[in-house]
Amino acid sequence: MGSGFTDGMTKTTHEKTTLVLGGTGKTGRRVAAGLTARGVPVRLGSRSADPPFDWENEATWEPALRNVGSVYVSYQPDLAVPGADDAIGSLTEIAVAGGVGRLVLLSGRGEEGAEVSEQLVQDSGAEWTILRSTWFAQNFSEDYLLEPVLGGEVALPAGNVREPFVDVDDIAEIAVAALTEDGHVGQLYELTGPRLLTFADAVNEISKATGREIGYVQVSPEEYAAVLKAHDVPADFVWLMNYLFTTVLDGRNAHLADGVQRALGREPRDFSDYARHTAATGVWDVENTRSA
Ligand SMILES: NC(=O)c1ccc[n+]([C@@H]2O[C@H](COP(=O)([O-])OP(=O)(O)OC[C@H]3O[C@@H](n4cnc5c(N)ncnc54)[C@H](OP(=O)(O)O)[C@@H]3O)[C@@H](O)[C@H]2O)c1
Repeated sequence: MGSGFTDGMTKTTHEKTTLVLGGTGKTGRRVAAGLTARGVPVRLGSRSADPPFDWENEATWEPALRNVGSVYVSYQPDLAVPGADDAIGSLTEIAVAGGVGRLVLLSGRGEEGAEVSEQLVQDSGAEWTILRSTWFAQNFSEDYLLEPVLGGEVALPAGNVREPFVDVDDIAEIAVAALTEDGHVGQLYELTGPRLLTFADAVNEISKATGREIGYVQVSPEEYAAVLKAHDVPADFVWLMNYLFTTVLDGRNAHLADGVQRALGREPRDFSDYARHTAATGVWDVENTRSA
């Protein structure tokens, strides 16, 4: 793999700033930290950044892209939602016209809608890498599944379908490599963990790692949607959750892929490592949460 700092094209790209969209999110903040550790200038792209970047407001895109050489593209809320491909098409067009030479897209595995956006990035004229990722382990510690884990019961319409949860540390490491080295250009990496687990298995791993009783309860999609609505979750997000837990979780992703091995030359991190390390941070410690 090349260093990324040796050839003319890449050097120009790297001398400029890398815009990290979703830069405060689960993958983005790790990508930003990894780039900073390599001495790459980083600009965070999110609604709270300066300048702000908002997927819902195209007027914010050009200022965020000014003097940028590469972009890590993590879309919100999901490439499967209607209109995502229009946004990705417009963003890549504005980016490339403004001098962006490299795009690394975070995509969702098993989502037909996401593949339209993947193609737009591949056709953009910039160097590209696609990170087609399965469900993140960190949804249990940094997102909507944290609260149920703390509450001692995770109720989902997930059934017995097995999913090869991927660790976002692996995704971020690959993104940093793809943004700073030459060997990942033109690669579509399908990213999974090393093992298939049901959601009940995953919850059980967390239970073991924390030493706390945490149960998994199977509910119907309708029951799950009703709970989300009762918590005032916006209708778009309820639709997305239903799509993810029914269509994407229909067994289509119940096989391993070798993207992490191809990109990093090592095995992906296992869910049990994630659970052990995360338990040690105290984020699943109910007492810590109460005193916070
Ligand atoms: N979660 C998974 O299991 C999974 C699996 C495969 C693929 N993916 C894909 O990963 C991507 C990120 O999803 P995630 O769940 O991991 O979320 P995340 O990155 O943790 O989301 C939060 C980030 O998005 C920013 N953000 C939120 N709304 C925004 C908006 N309207 N405009 C600009 N930035 C916005 C937030 O910052 P501000 O609040 O400051 O704006 C924050 O930086 C999605 O495209 C998703 O499809 C997720």
